[in-house]
Amino acid sequence: MSEVDETTITQTVLDRLTDCPSPRLREVSEALVRHLHAFVREVEPTMDEWMTAIEFLTRTGQICSSSRQEFILLSDTLGVSMLVDAINHRFPRGATETTVLGPFYVQGPPEVALGADISGGVAGEPLLVEGTVRSTAGTPLGGAVVDTWHSDQDGYYDVQLGDELTLRARLRAGEDGRFWFWSIVPASYPIPNDGPVGQMLRAQGRHPYRPAHVHFKISAPGHEELSTHVFVAGDQYLDSDAVFGVKQSLIHELDRLPAAEAPPGRTLDGPFARMRYDFVLAPARVKEAVSSAGT
Ligand code: BEZ
Ligand code: FE
Repeated sequence: MSEVDETTITQTVLDRLTDCPSPRLREVSEALVRHLHAFVREVEPTMDEWMTAIEFLTRTGQICSSSRQEFILLSDTLGVSMLVDAINHRFPRGATETTVLGPFYVQGPPEVALGADISGGVAGEPLLVEGTVRSTAGTPLGGAVVDTWHSDQDGYYDVQLGDELTLRARLRAGEDGRFWFWSIVPASYPIPNDGPVGQMLRAQGRHPYRPAHVHFKISAPGHEELSTHVFVAGDQYLDSDAVFGVKQSLIHELDRLPAAEAPPGRTLDGPFARMRYDFVLAPARVKEAVSSAGT
């Protein structure tokens, strides 16, 4: 039996993985052990620090529920979600860039007609959102399914307030690839920070805010699904998003227009804001065959 000490422990653990039946699981397990051991060698935690880390992860798990996923929030705030997103969405030039989905997406949002008002009467500055959905070749993707959701003017999502579903909807782009709807201008907001992730941010001297944005999840046959946001230009948190989700190409100026320029079907008392953004979907990639060994 070889002696287990500081210098031999890593190889001893790696040797224990040689009978792993799944090549992928073996690869991932080996990398996990190598990197975790390297981290511990670099940090040299005290026993108290190690226990603090264990307790932090324990609390992170304990606060999770069907409506709260603290581990995703941890991944988001450590930049891991954006790294995984980048690795998985190496789209061709011209395709709209992706960003994190976030925890406030609701499967199967209310379907509305083009031009609908999705504000549900929630107070705020009227916002007209107009866009097109096209392929990288410029072909309009008629019938593309456009899911959208965003915060209210105080920075809250309907699901946080326990309200009925508002400020979210599913639309289908017209044959010309165009879609449009009315809502209200969203605000910047703090990510949930009353749990371990909030404690971590405060301990690291970081704020929990995300810059104001509208979420889009767009799909069309033969194309990669696009999960992205359009960020409101000028927001004070664009350079310090708590989850590192901002990309330059996704920042967009809102136009401010007089009521008379509202499209037919909507009468306004005063000026309104307009967000115009053209989305480009990448062609679908051929999926790699999944190993029958599984992981
Ligand atoms: C969001 O944009 O909704 C979001 C993304 C990551 C963490 C928290 C919120
Ligand atoms: Fe959001």
